[in-house]
Amino acid sequence: MTGLHSVDAMRRAAKRRLPRFVFDFVDGGAGCESALARNRRSLDMIRLLPRVLTGCTRRDPAVALLGRRHGLPFGVAPIGMANLVGAGTDLGLARAAAAAGLPYVLSTAATTAIEAIAQAAPGSWFQLYVGRDPPIVDDLLVRAQAAGITTLVVTVDVPAPGKRLRDLANGFRLPLRPTAGMAADLLRHPRWSLSLLRNGAPRFANLERYERASASASSLAELMAAQSSARLDWSLLDEIRGRWRGELLVKGVLHPDDAVRLLASGVDGIVVSNHGGRQLDAAPAPIEVLPLVRAAVGAAAPVIVDGGFRTGEDIARAIALGADLVLLGRPFLYAAAARGAQRGAAELIALLGDEFDRALAHLGCASIADLRKATVACESALAVRDPGTASPPARLRTING
Ligand SMILES: Cc1cc2nc3c(=O)[nH]c(=O)nc-3n(C[C@H](O)[C@H](O)[C@H](O)COP(=O)(O)O)c2cc1C
Repeated sequence: MTGLHSVDAMRRAAKRRLPRFVFDFVDGGAGCESALARNRRSLDMIRLLPRVLTGCTRRDPAVALLGRRHGLPFGVAPIGMANLVGAGTDLGLARAAAAAGLPYVLSTAATTAIEAIAQAAPGSWFQLYVGRDPPIVDDLLVRAQAAGITTLVVTVDVPAPGKRLRDLANGFRLPLRPTAGMAADLLRHPRWSLSLLRNGAPRFANLERYERASASASSLAELMAAQSSARLDWSLLDEIRGRWRGELLVKGVLHPDDAVRLLASGVDGIVVSNHGGRQLDAAPAPIEVLPLVRAAVGAAAPVIVDGGFRTGEDIARAIALGADLVLLGRPFLYAAAARGAQRGAAELIALLGDEFDRALAHLGCASIADLRKATVACESALAVRDPGTASPPARLRTING
């Protein structure tokens, strides 16, 4: 296969290689997919103003976050059911991220257990869904801590499952039960189908030990469905904060007031996210609200963002607008499908790192600190941000309140 020089090229390769119901599970969003489209559109609307004659030949893309240094300002978002793309996907992504010194976030809904990931890729983070059964949540916390995980990410934007129309149309459900409609799809993708036969269907590896013990679920799929965060509230989050000894991040925050309250409750950082457009279709793009969140929480609070990031320039856009780090979800799955997980993820990391470095060069920035001071504009010429003030672009300000 020839070189894949962009996330878009990796996405096209993934589309060819995966059965349609798998590709759609990865690629799709909730409802009419307007949040999914908005994530992209909002990023495209942001302009970074190049600076000339800066003589900036030495550029350092490293970032410090939560007391650790990362070689590049991005990481791998939590992804449930990743091994659907291919056996070993969770492990391959985690290993590639660890080798590059980037954060990898293992999902509660992952297809590889916490213990295996923590051993293969020390430094990985764990994402928790606070499901219906308190003993399961308690045990997941104990297991994560025992495995040596120090950073916990609690996802709070799934009070109800997202309504994903592509999955419904494809008859895609878990556990995987091939329908007549899927048969032709499977025959058209023999390599994927044979791998599934060889390796078995991917399972929710973190949850299978609770399958029998659970009072409220009769199958692993039901157990997973019960992991939505409907019962999560401020007091339960306080309890988790009290119990978790490491850093605690909360993912799925869009409202600046929620961000402020979370930090006041002892949370160590915020992940501004609309779950990649997979939950509330009317939600704003994270990049739209990022300047508002940053202005509300102040300069020092760790703020991570995800949703729609596909290039190194996108990552530069987020940092210029106040993010410390960007997470990417689907691009790592496209890379895994196109190239195999570990190799694909390593290629993607190199590709994004190269694009990010080029962006720094054009902006005359020698470091992340310089990039934070870059001049940013929105599509509307009115929206130029004065780098000397913290005020967000006017166009973004209009959606507040
Ligand atoms: C297939 C898939 C599975 C996901 N599973 C989870 C999950 O288990 N937990 C979670 O917090 N977010 C999950 N997400 C959301 C991602 O963590 C992330 O917020 C989103 O993918 C970012 O958008 P992007 O895909 O455009 O980069 C999932 C996303 C996808 C595409």
